[in-house]
Amino acid sequence: MGAQARVFVTRQLPGAALDRLAADHDVEVWPDRLPPPRSELFARAPELQGLLSLLTDPVDAELIAAAPKLRAISNYAVGVDNVDVEAAAARGIPVGNTPDVLTDSTADLAVALMLGIGRRLAEGEAFVRAGEWRTWEPDLLLGRDLNAATVGIVGYGRIGRAVARRLEGFGCEVLTANRSSGIEDLLERSDFVTLHSPLTPETRGMIDDAALRRMKPTAYLVNTARGPIVDTDALARALHAGELAGAALDVTDPEPLPADHPLLDAPNVLVVPHVGSATVATRERMADMAVNNLLAGLAGEPMPHSVTDRSA
Ligand code: DGY
Repeated sequence: MGAQARVFVTRQLPGAALDRLAADHDVEVWPDRLPPPRSELFARAPELQGLLSLLTDPVDAELIAAAPKLRAISNYAVGVDNVDVEAAAARGIPVGNTPDVLTDSTADLAVALMLGIGRRLAEGEAFVRAGEWRTWEPDLLLGRDLNAATVGIVGYGRIGRAVARRLEGFGCEVLTANRSSGIEDLLERSDFVTLHSPLTPETRGMIDDAALRRMKPTAYLVNTARGPIVDTDALARALHAGELAGAALDVTDPEPLPADHPLLDAPNVLVVPHVGSATVATRERMADMAVNNLLAGLAGEPMPHSVTDRSA
């Protein structure tokens, strides 16, 4: 084993993976429920050698510059939009992420959201709890079938493909697109549009006014990718105008979405708090992978899963 490194972990993680990290290194785990404030990250930066960050921690060029001894960044997420990967790579600092282990859980949630918004599950539950369930009614809470629907998958990577596999079982027609090709046709034809792209300068705001106007007024938008891929104001406007049947969102912009945010006043919005990967097994696997990445990076070995493809 090499010398102990100073490591900061920005939140407690599920499972026992952090014990393995602490066995080899000098580890501080931020104890609060909320992310460490930026000032706390900067306070640790001068001595920091390893950082295990969450998607809620901006690991930007300024922070990286303030951490001259930093040798490895491991992000507890597949998405790395919170990390300035170029700034890290320019210093030869590898950036790890957690692909594959969360693909199926996230794909499951995307399908759950399609069913939830199409079959009006949240409305139904609120109806029962409000004591409004008086009898079986022929036209009570009529929704739309996912079965045999046309589903547009925007971002056909690991998670998009896993969604497509699930939709085969629902007899869906699946259309796929990335930013550059075929998105207009997909938007116009789909009954459900589900987003699975990473957040990049190219995908930020991809679902804007013009994109939403292309969708059928009977169609639903589902987002389990990143909130800023959708223009929130444009979405609220489209929902109020009836240009869209509804939206089911696991991710929002801003995130978290305040309880009094105007988007929640729009009709037919189902919002859950960024829980695509939130199963016990998946979050433990992510922790294992994030720790493995950090251990490798600190040892100067290639990380098992790195977006920089470099080791320190
Ligand atoms: C990710 O990994 O990027 C998800 O958003 C959280 O698991």
